[in-house]
Amino acid sequence: MFKIVVFASGSGSNLRSLLNEFDKSKDIRVDFVISDKIHPGAFDVAAEYSVPVLNVAETGKPGFLTYDALASVFTEKNINLIVLAGFLKKIPDSFVRTFRSRIINIHPALLPGFGGAGMYGIRVHRAVFESGVKISGATIHFVDEYYDHGKIIAQAAVDIKDALSPEDIAGLVLKTEHKLLPETVRKIAAGKLKEIDNRIIIL
Ligand code: GAR
Repeated sequence: MFKIVVFASGSGSNLRSLLNEFDKSKDIRVDFVISDKIHPGAFDVAAEYSVPVLNVAETGKPGFLTYDALASVFTEKNINLIVLAGFLKKIPDSFVRTFRSRIINIHPALLPGFGGAGMYGIRVHRAVFESGVKISGATIHFVDEYYDHGKIIAQAAVDIKDALSPEDIAGLVLKTEHKLLPETVRKIAAGKLKEIDNRIIIL
């Protein structure tokens, strides 16, 4: 069984796309949903699928696990992949080092453009809208010590020439995210990723 955990701070529509896809799977399972928020929408989605939830905070907070405690849980449970799906806090460096190449993030634009500190959610789409570009998209990348910086695994482009607002772009990109994320997780679980000449190739 390929075990994943999903980190989410928001409504959890990407989490839902994963749970929809893998709910009946014999090979891939979502073991936990983790959040920095006490009760994000993502926790309601997790409850619908009976997936346990945990809270995490960088410093000790009642009811929240530290990243070190979470790392112990993941190691004990042999978690294979950590998926950041709308998780808005930076992952501490020590946690990144422990799970190097086992943490992926979905970003709602075509990196390396429109990423970095403070670029999340509607802020990304606002910057894209104001730039006047006609194509945006979604990117899935490995998480390293820097914001939106790790090696790119998969991207999908979205035509936004007819979008009239950042919200329009968000809707178009989100639809693509919901397809790209489960598809990519499935390929990772199947061992189809290779690194060749410093680039990630999906076989
Ligand atoms: C998604 O669009 C995701 O790409 C974005 O937050 C949204 C979460 O939506 N993530 C970032 O901006 C990270 N930089 P969801 O809670 O409905 O899945």
